[in-house]
Amino acid sequence: MSDHPVVLIPGDGIGPEIADAVRRIFSAAKAPVTWLEHHAGVTALEKHGEVLPEATLQAIRTHRIALKGPCTTPVGGGFRSVNVSLRKGLDLYAAVRPIRSLEGVPTRFENVDIVVLRENTEGLYSGIENEVAPGVVTSLKVVTDKASRRFARWGFAYCRKRGRKKVTAMHKANIMKMGDGLFIRCSREEHKAGGFTDIEYEEVIIDAGCMRIVQDPTRFDVLMLENLYGDVLSDLCAGLVGGLGVAPGANLGDACAVFEAVHGSAPDIAGKGVANPLSLLMSSVMMLNHMAHEMGLSDCKAPADAIKNAYNRALAEGDKTRDIGGNLGTSEFADAIVRRLS
Ligand SMILES: NC(=O)c1ccc[n+]([C@@H]2O[C@H](COP(=O)([O-])OP(=O)(O)OC[C@H]3O[C@@H](n4cnc5c(N)ncnc54)[C@H](O)[C@@H]3O)[C@@H](O)[C@H]2O)c1
Repeated sequence: MSDHPVVLIPGDGIGPEIADAVRRIFSAAKAPVTWLEHHAGVTALEKHGEVLPEATLQAIRTHRIALKGPCTTPVGGGFRSVNVSLRKGLDLYAAVRPIRSLEGVPTRFENVDIVVLRENTEGLYSGIENEVAPGVVTSLKVVTDKASRRFARWGFAYCRKRGRKKVTAMHKANIMKMGDGLFIRCSREEHKAGGFTDIEYEEVIIDAGCMRIVQDPTRFDVLMLENLYGDVLSDLCAGLVGGLGVAPGANLGDACAVFEAVHGSAPDIAGKGVANPLSLLMSSVMMLNHMAHEMGLSDCKAPADAIKNAYNRALAEGDKTRDIGGNLGTSEFADAIVRRLS
């Protein structure tokens, strides 16, 4: 079987360093992937004059799968987030963030195993903001029946496929009675209409939910959230298992999928060779599993398992980067994984 094309967007800041580490580990694992490098973010702006070139979008549409490093987004002005544009442009309507405790990464809690599912296309990320009068700004939170139902249907099906037992939809429908009210009504109705009786469903007001997560994350299984809450809780939950450096992420649509490092471009450590490549590496393992199970590319399964075993062993045996209490740099950590693959 020939290698499968995958679009690789190294991204900005630490992106190229962690992307190189992943490429090296994929070669050592003989993962059947041909990388097609494309650009997004500030790197794309410098090379091609735009932050999200049409060629990058077109390559993902053609090959249906991409691995993406972090992209810098200016705060309070400048261009629109590349991530938001990518999700909208490719209709990647669901984000998945598996959050699991890792042996060798000591944290406050053990046995955390939560999946955060986030609606990825609307809510406050509509990007519609207006200054209605000097000093008065409105940001529009858009919630539609169509997007909420599509996301909920997909989310319950995802849980069933993976044998997950309980979904907690978090909301603020006591205040945003119409917007969040619509989101949870759609979740509730799709749970019922889809006959997902094997999956328990509960609704929790998000402020109380956050308190309960940090008190005892082990009581949660899958969280189902609208866009902004999903963004915030994904990072909160990553913090429970060691931080953004050890949490993978995927953005999924019906036509394509983009797997990504969940952290940012970390300008404070860019170029220093100390970034943890695990978030991108774990996302790349999710990607191989997606290729095996959703795209029928069964030769991706063995390298996915091998890479996962190798990084789990490296961590458990104390080989880790500084952000999680170790002393290895990016390429030394990649070496430690490569050694365990050979
Ligand atoms: N998915 C994305 O592309 C994405 C996500 C978040 C932020 N961003 C962008 O990244 C830029 C910087 O954002 P920020 O500083 O708020 O967040 P950040 O995630 O880049 O950095 C936060 C802190 O975590 C550390 N860190 C992040 N990733 C790390 C890694 N792999 N290994 C070791 N340490 C790591 C950084 O050094 C920093 O101290 C901004 O322009 C922001 O918009 C992009």
